[in-house]
Amino acid sequence: MNYRHSFHAGNSADVVKHSLLIALLRALQQKEGALTLIDTHAGCGLYDLGGEQAQRTGEAAHGVLRAFADTNPLLDDYRAAVRAVNDGAEPHLYPGSPQFLAQLLRPQDLLILNEKHPEDVAILRDAMRGSPAAVHARDAYELWLALLPTRTARGVVVVDPPYEQTDERDRIVATLAAAHRKWAHGVTVIWYPLKDRATHQQWKQKLRRLGIPKFLVVEHWLYDADMPGIYNGAGLFIVNPPYAFVQALPPLLEALRAALAPDGHRGEIRADWLHD
Ligand SMILES: C[S@@+](CC[C@H](N)C(=O)[O-])C[C@H]1O[C@@H](n2cnc3c(N)ncnc32)[C@H](O)[C@@H]1O
Repeated sequence: MNYRHSFHAGNSADVVKHSLLIALLRALQQKEGALTLIDTHAGCGLYDLGGEQAQRTGEAAHGVLRAFADTNPLLDDYRAAVRAVNDGAEPHLYPGSPQFLAQLLRPQDLLILNEKHPEDVAILRDAMRGSPAAVHARDAYELWLALLPTRTARGVVVVDPPYEQTDERDRIVATLAAAHRKWAHGVTVIWYPLKDRATHQQWKQKLRRLGIPKFLVVEHWLYDADMPGIYNGAGLFIVNPPYAFVQALPPLLEALRAALAPDGHRGEIRADWLHD
């Protein structure tokens, strides 16, 4: 099996993203009503942490392996979800978002996975064999709009692009604006990398202009000041987060910050409303 993106899997951004996805679903599932979960950029579903590239970049050492070295019970759900795809105490495989979502699926919920890259979608289909998920191989932005409003009354769209295209942020803003017009009450989660504070402020300004009222911004800054030219952290935009999730967030974010802080840095992880 070829794991194309294994070298990034299980990094600190994955730990935060996947921990918050679990917490979000748990909050939504406090109600019985069915959910439709749509993962627009699903990736491969399963990644080999022992592969040559993964070993070389060592990103898991700063992410999932730190979460496993930590004992805070608030990270138990995350660790259990990673353990579920592994057979030993130490993880050697890393589950992608499709696996985290599939593990929490109830009989009434629907899971729709989408991945455009032909090699990745083949691996994804393999990784999700036996799960009730529907797998599509379409353009994420086309599918995002086409599937809204969801067939069930409630739903979550997870948008997790690689940000390799220069127009990625513009496509997100345009598609989110159109999606919000079709599905104003839906929950949307958008992952983004953090480069520096000024660039991030500009993007938030563009999103503010959309006027979406319940728009939560989670930011995880790894270092205590901007580190030029390198990856500085990542975050999630969450449209219409459920109340129970927002209430549960502060201690979970603190647990993640403490588990993932690089040596010599405290780091910062915060959640603020886009419109105060
Ligand atoms: C960061 S990875 C997804 C990781 C996954 N969400 C997870 O958390 O495990 C991004 C994926 O998006 C796919 N991709 C890139 N552009 C796309 C597009 N326009 N439509 C659908 N998939 C796309 C890439 O092939 C890659 O597998």
